[in-house]
Amino acid sequence: MLKKTIRDLPAGALQGRRALVRVDFNVPLTDAGEVADDTRLTAALPTLEALAAAGAKVILLSHLGRPKAKPEAKYSLAPVARRLAQLTARPVAFFGETDTEAAVARANATAPGTFLLLENTRFLPGEEANDDALARRFAALGDVFVNDAFGTAHRAHASTEGVARHLKPAVAGLLMQKELDYLGGALEQPKRPFVAILGGSKISGKIDVIEALLPKADAILVGGAMACTFYKAMGLETGTSLVEPDRVEMARDLVERAGTVLILPHDATVAPSIDARARAHAVKKDGIGATEAMLDIGPDTAASYARAILSAKTVVWNGPMGVFEKPPLDAGTLAIARAMAEATKKGATTIVGGGDSAAAIEQAGLADLVSHVSTGGGASLEFLEGKALPGVAILDDLTSRTDS
Ligand code: 3PG
Repeated sequence: MLKKTIRDLPAGALQGRRALVRVDFNVPLTDAGEVADDTRLTAALPTLEALAAAGAKVILLSHLGRPKAKPEAKYSLAPVARRLAQLTARPVAFFGETDTEAAVARANATAPGTFLLLENTRFLPGEEANDDALARRFAALGDVFVNDAFGTAHRAHASTEGVARHLKPAVAGLLMQKELDYLGGALEQPKRPFVAILGGSKISGKIDVIEALLPKADAILVGGAMACTFYKAMGLETGTSLVEPDRVEMARDLVERAGTVLILPHDATVAPSIDARARAHAVKKDGIGATEAMLDIGPDTAASYARAILSAKTVVWNGPMGVFEKPPLDAGTLAIARAMAEATKKGATTIVGGGDSAAAIEQAGLADLVSHVSTGGGASLEFLEGKALPGVAILDDLTSRTDS
């Protein structure tokens, strides 16, 4: 079901009104406590600027990190407000409370066309439990609810899901819409061939997405240490590679059912350990030594995966091919990133799931050369698994294009 967005609000609905916006400003901070990566801030700006331009008082809610339902200075959103103020010409205020009467008073007193960021929602008991009383207090902060926090949409928390039960209209922001359009488009009507690349260390985190994509994708290319659990299932030597023994049976079943859709690396880059990566070398998949670990896909696999990506019309990538933070074990991941950029140039729709693969394409300097880099790690994975995202499901349905 399509969801209403801020574009579907009636004209004048925002003038002088409080738009309560759930953003995902869960960003990494430096040791000095400053924002280390502002991607999630810049990604939310189109929504925030559109609301401000329509005359709204823009009240922002977000979590940061995983504090344990009580204030912790290192998780304060104050530095995020400072960074946001550098990214917009509009005034940005920060208030160190979230659900209090004082916070409501600050929201009411916010000038139209300006931003007010409130303190970390996870400082409050009840946020993660989706407590209804807290959701009502959040709802008192706005006249309209906008969810632009795609990265947190898989969490049914008071500020993502509960609040939307009490504050209507409840609509999607532009970032949320863009994420849903790209990821949803890839799943529902992919231009073919549709190729998925799945990596990462553990098969357990990717089983559901493999299952969901098997009937949809023309090819699923597997990389990362999770390939080793498949190797084990095929009776191959995996040396000291990371293998999930309790998933071997599941991997065997998948390989049998998947036919030619599931493609495993045919060579691997191995070394005695990450620290001994100077001794990294390529072996065929049946040539992994007993004292070696697979730490990247091999060069032949990287080349054949790149060819598959270049022949695709839709590509979705989630998870690195190896230990990409440690060159030369980044070679496989870089090959995928470059092929994604090249495929985009040739007209393919290319989507990078959040988390590590987003970091990898960023590190490769190619993030601007693919169609879409998701701001959600866990959220994009759950979406690709076909699960409903609670933060999206609760938003107002768009019953017709003219509905508003
Ligand atoms: C993320 O970074 O994936 C989101 O902000 C969600 O954070 P969480 O995993 O702590 O809920």
